[in-house]
Amino acid sequence: MTKKLISLTGLLCLALTAVAQTLSVNTPRTTLLLSAPQGEKAKIIYYGARLSGTDLDMAARVETAQDAYPAYGMNCPVEAALAVQHSDGNCSLDLVVEQSAQREEADCVVTTIALKDKVYPLQVSLIYKAWKDADVIEAWSEITHQEKKAVRLQQFASAYLPVRRGEVWVSHLSGSWANEGNLTQEPLNPGMLVIKNKDGVRNSHTDHAEIMLSLDGKPQENSGRTIGAALCYGGNYKLRIETHDDEYHHLFAGINEENSAYLLAKGETFVTPALALTYSSEGLSGSSRNFHRWARQHKLANGTKLRKILLNSWEGVYFDINQEGMEQMMADIASMGGELFVMDDGWFGDKYPRKNDHSSLGDWVVDQRKLPLGIQGLIDAADRNRIKFGIWIEPEMANTTSELFEKHPDWVIKAPGRDLVLGRGGTQVVLDLSNPDVQDFIFNLVDELMTKYPAIDYIKWDANMSVMNHGSQYLPADKQSHLYIAYHRGFEQVCQRIRAKYPELTIQACASGGGRANYGILPYFDEFWVSDNTDALQRVYMQWGTSYFFPAIAMASHISAAPNHQTSRVVPIKYRIDVAMSGRLGMEIQPKNMTEQEKELCRKAIAQYKQIRPIVQQGDIYRLLSPYDKQGAASLMYVTPEKDRAVFYWWKTEQFVNQHLSRIPMAGLNPEKLYRVTELNSIDTKPLPFEGLSFSGAYLMANGLELPYYHNVRQHYDYASRVLLLEEVK
Ligand code: GLA
Repeated sequence: MTKKLISLTGLLCLALTAVAQTLSVNTPRTTLLLSAPQGEKAKIIYYGARLSGTDLDMAARVETAQDAYPAYGMNCPVEAALAVQHSDGNCSLDLVVEQSAQREEADCVVTTIALKDKVYPLQVSLIYKAWKDADVIEAWSEITHQEKKAVRLQQFASAYLPVRRGEVWVSHLSGSWANEGNLTQEPLNPGMLVIKNKDGVRNSHTDHAEIMLSLDGKPQENSGRTIGAALCYGGNYKLRIETHDDEYHHLFAGINEENSAYLLAKGETFVTPALALTYSSEGLSGSSRNFHRWARQHKLANGTKLRKILLNSWEGVYFDINQEGMEQMMADIASMGGELFVMDDGWFGDKYPRKNDHSSLGDWVVDQRKLPLGIQGLIDAADRNRIKFGIWIEPEMANTTSELFEKHPDWVIKAPGRDLVLGRGGTQVVLDLSNPDVQDFIFNLVDELMTKYPAIDYIKWDANMSVMNHGSQYLPADKQSHLYIAYHRGFEQVCQRIRAKYPELTIQACASGGGRANYGILPYFDEFWVSDNTDALQRVYMQWGTSYFFPAIAMASHISAAPNHQTSRVVPIKYRIDVAMSGRLGMEIQPKNMTEQEKELCRKAIAQYKQIRPIVQQGDIYRLLSPYDKQGAASLMYVTPEKDRAVFYWWKTEQFVNQHLSRIPMAGLNPEKLYRVTELNSIDTKPLPFEGLSFSGAYLMANGLELPYYHNVRQHYDYASRVLLLEEVK
C-alpha cells in the first residue's frame, strides 16, 4: 500500500480529515514524522534533522514506527502514556485513529491526530505544534469522554517520544535550595530513569522538568545529535525514560499523577501541558540555542524586550526596610548607572508588622511605621533618581500570624480534620488556589497595587513553601486528589488575568531562589531568580546548568557582597561582576558598604553591560569549557544572530598557583569575518597583548586567544576572569 504523504511546505491553510496517513511536522531544521491511518494505531516514525523529498518517503517506508501514545490495557507490558479506569471499572484502553488534521497559523502549524477507543466513547487528541521560526515542536494530549459517569485518569502523560537505543546519554539538572541547577550527565541503561517533583508549589529546586539526550555518546557541547525535552508545567511533574528489551528508549513526560488521580466528568476535556521538543546536530549548545530562541520569541513574557539593570534590597538590608534606607539605596544604584530599584521583603503589615519571616504574609498594606510616605513616597524617590521602582510580594502565601488568616482560616491548604502543617518561620501556610475567592484575592492584590501605583515597573513574586499537608477546604470530598492540579490551574488563571491587564509589567518568578525555573511558569514571568546563593563561584556552575534550557535574559544574576552571605567565600569584585554580567545583570548588596573603588568598577561594568546587553540577552549561546569538566576554568560566549558581535567569558574555577590551563577555541563566529577584541571590566595595569587587534573568526575558532592566568593586581590574584567583546571590523 502506498502511503499518502502530507508535507506542509508551502501549504497555506489545510484542514484534512481522514485521508492523511503520514504527516510530517516540520520546523526549519527538524522533522517529526507521524503515521495516522484511520482505524489503526497512530505512530511516530521519525524525529530528527529535517527531511524532505524522497527522504520523507523512504523514512516513512523503512523506519520502525512506535505507538505515538501508548495506552494501558491491551498488550502494554512497558510504561504507558495513558491509563484510565472507565466508569464501569474496566481498566483497559484501545485507541485507534479517527481522523487527523493540519492547520496553519501565523507562526506555527498545528497537527492534530484524533484517537478514539474501539469500544468506549473516550477520545484523545494528540497535538503537535511546530514553530516556523524556532526548532521546537510542542506536543500535548487532550482527553475527553461521553461515558455515563466520571472516568478516573490514573496516568496522563503529555507526550511520548521513542529514542533509538545506542550510546545515549541524558543530561539533567538537580539540586536543592542555594544549590540549584546542578548538572548530571549519565548514560541511559536498562531500567527506568524517573525525574519527578512533588513539591506542589515550586518545581525546580530539586529536579528539573527538562532534559537533553545526547545520541552519539558522552555529551558534547558543540557537536553531536541532541534532543532536548522541556515539560511546560509549573506543578508536580514526572519524566520517565524506560529502557526495556527493545531497540528504543521510551520517553514519557507529563503531570506527576502520584496522589493526583483525576475524575474526568462526562464531556469535560483534560488538557495536558505541552512537552517542548527540540533537535540539533550541533550538540548540547545547539539544542540550548533552539530552546532559547523559542523562549524569547514565543514562551517567555516580553522575551524580546531588554531587561533593566537593578538593585534588589534583600541582601543589603534584609527585613530592615525604611524610607531613608530605601532612598539611600536608590541614590546609590542610580549613581552607578542602574535603572531600577526593587524593594524586597519587609515593607508590609499593619496589625502584624513584618519584622522577620514569622508573620504578616497576606497583609499587603504598607507598614506606615517603616514607610510613612507609603509606596508613593518610594516611587517619588525613584523618580527623583531617574530610576524605576519595583516591589516584592509573596501572594500565594499567608502566615498564621496575619489578619488574612484571622479572617479567612478556610482559605489555606489543610487536610480536613487535621492540624495545619506550618512552613517558613514556623507560621507560613499556602493559600488554596483551587478556591476562586483566593484567586480573586491574589489578582486583586496585584490589580490594586498597579491601579494605585501604575508607576510600579517590576514585581518580584516569591513562593517560599511547598504543599505540606494534602487537603483542600474548598474541593469536595471526591475531588481531594485534584488538589495539586487544581492549585496550578488556579495559579495559571490568576497569572493569565494579570498578564491580560498588565502585559508590560516585569515580573520575576522567585521561589526560595530557583524553585520556579520552568516553561510552565515563564509565559507569565519575564525572568526567574536562579538561586538565593549569590556566591560567584558557585553561580558559574548553577548558571551553566540553567543555561542548558533557559536564555540569559531570564536568568537574574546579581553582584553581591564579599564575604558572600551564603558561603562566606571572599571573591574579588571583578570576578563577581564578570559572572553576574553573563546573565540578566543586577546587584544585591548594600552599596554604602562598598569601597569607592568597588563602586567605580561597578559603574564601569554597568556602562559596558549596557553596550553588550543585546548580545547577552538576545544572542546565541556557545558553551565552550564546562566547569563540570574540572579543567580549572569555565568559558562560554554569546554571539548575535548576525555574527557581527560577540561576548566571550572566561572564569577560573580552581585557584592553584601555576596550574596549567587549556586555551579555549571560540565558537559560533563567522570564519570569514574580522573581529576586533576589546577587554571589558579590565583591571590590569597594562592592556592584554591582543587588545584592540583584529582576528578572523576562523583564527579565533581554531585557536582562541592566550589568556593570562592572573590579573597583575595583587588583590585579584586569585579568581582571575576575563570578558572580551568581539566586534566585526567592516
Ligand atoms: C526568598 C527569596 C529571597 C528573598 C526572601 C525574602 O528566600 O528567594 O530572594 O526575597 O525570600 O524573604
